[in-house]
Amino acid sequence: MSSNQGKIEELIRLREQAKLGGGQKRIDSQHKKGKYTARERIEMLLDEGSFEEFDMFVTHRCHNFGLENDTYYGDGVVTGYGTVDGRLVYVFAQDFTVFGGSLSETFAAKICKVMDMAMKAGAPLIGINDSGGARIQEGVNSLSGYTEIFQRNILASGVVPQISAIFGPCAGGAVYSPALTDFIIMSKGTSYMFVTGPKVVKTVTGEEVNQEQLGGASIHAAKSGVAHFVADTEEDGVGLIRKLLSYLPQNNLEDAPLTVCTDDIDRLEDSLNEIIPDNPNKPYDVLEVIRAVVDNGEFLESQSLFAPNIVTGFARFNGQSVGIIANQPKYLAGVLDINASRKAARFVRFCDAFNIPIVTLVDVPGFLPGTAQEYGGIIIHGAKLLFAYGEATVPKVTVILRKAYGGAYCVMSSKHLRGDINYAWPQAEIAVMGPAGAIEVLASKEIAAIENPEEKAKFMSEKEAEYRRKFANPYVAAKYGYIDDVIEPRNTRFRIIRALQSLATKKLTNPAKKHSNIPL
Ligand code: HXC
Repeated sequence: MSSNQGKIEELIRLREQAKLGGGQKRIDSQHKKGKYTARERIEMLLDEGSFEEFDMFVTHRCHNFGLENDTYYGDGVVTGYGTVDGRLVYVFAQDFTVFGGSLSETFAAKICKVMDMAMKAGAPLIGINDSGGARIQEGVNSLSGYTEIFQRNILASGVVPQISAIFGPCAGGAVYSPALTDFIIMSKGTSYMFVTGPKVVKTVTGEEVNQEQLGGASIHAAKSGVAHFVADTEEDGVGLIRKLLSYLPQNNLEDAPLTVCTDDIDRLEDSLNEIIPDNPNKPYDVLEVIRAVVDNGEFLESQSLFAPNIVTGFARFNGQSVGIIANQPKYLAGVLDINASRKAARFVRFCDAFNIPIVTLVDVPGFLPGTAQEYGGIIIHGAKLLFAYGEATVPKVTVILRKAYGGAYCVMSSKHLRGDINYAWPQAEIAVMGPAGAIEVLASKEIAAIENPEEKAKFMSEKEAEYRRKFANPYVAAKYGYIDDVIEPRNTRFRIIRALQSLATKKLTNPAKKHSNIPL
């Protein structure tokens, strides 16, 4: 054998060794838990054969607790780049088979390298998390490593899309890297995220709680809102990442992707003429409206279980990727509360950062009243949504389907917040408040003066009807030009498509500043 041949064979052997991570026993144990390995996950995520790996031969430099005699090629994280549907992405996947995927100084340096490359190339960054946290033997070098990653997450925010998959443990300060990214996907039953684990919780607060109850996928999907998507399996999770990427540009200097539209752009949707119930207090499902108007009924909903009184997600109109925000009358009558405001504000800001036009469907009775909301700071949280819409410079198309009352009218991408094209359906009610509330205020003395309950009810219903005729319609707003047209519901799809087409060359910039001071 020539020495060249020998060297090549050594390379092949070293590669094979590196690919085994922490060894076959630990790979088997990972599989037994129903989890894939870091390499398997990357393979599922990227286009076949497209993965180019970096730093396969990196090892840690730690000499504490005998670790100098315990090294693995790659040091617990697989990093590199590849393509998803032919588009470049950078990726890291923590390898639980090596020291439980715990983060060392060199492990962090590998992640930082791909983050820097993603920024230079202007390509999305995808992180797959499955880790026991800071590598205990490395002490402060692990903490510094985490923080170097955080700093890069922060600088990359709004420059390249950052997506985090949580496919195993993610605890302690480690949770803050995913939290700084744009989207978090968790796998059901095998992932959890918390700042302090069940044992510490028990010691500090006496509360008994298990990992799943404290930070499992369903908790973060429905209660905390930390997770944007929950996947039944890792395959589904990876599929979600690929789908999500299809709606996003590579970076903040590119336009949102345009694909070939296979749906009729002039399609009329007769069902929409009938979707608003006769009784204004009856709910309907705004998802039906969304699916009826977007290309092929395809809608990727983000945070579907958190604050379901507002719907956020991605869809396409004539192939153009858009972000949709819609009040959901099916839950809490579509009211804006703290969680709905936070959810929608962050979504609006994401779309604006990445040049994704925003389509807003409005049916909102107002902000949720009460001490729970006031004490929780609805003023500040509601202001987040107001701020996000007002600051956004992407094309903004709004359709008021039914109610648009009070401050919520102003907030939901109104003309006054630089809404570009604002339509209303004929059933729209645009006013300071709903008829019942308004009459209570306007005619309180007259109402109190009527003793007979029947007469009182008759008086109130007449007054309400008068109010409804005067204000609870779209034509007052149309008279002032606050909405651009009252449209027939079945025409909504092609009216939105035309509106978006007309805004394709929109240019709008905000005043020069270091950054705004959004009410966080
Ligand atoms: C070094 C670690 C490790 C860690 C796990 N391992 N976590 N090694 N540092 N943080 C090693 C184990 O020794 C074991 O090695 C292998 O990884 C697998 O771990 P197991 O415990 O056998 O696995 P499992 O039973 O599945 O439990 C997983 C786990 C548990 C729940 C994650 O390992 C665990 O509680 N780890 C410690 C978690 C933790 O407290 N981390 C620090 C959090 S504070 P062998 O050789 O047997 O395979 C933090 C601060 C970050 O992270 C701050 C950022 C700013």
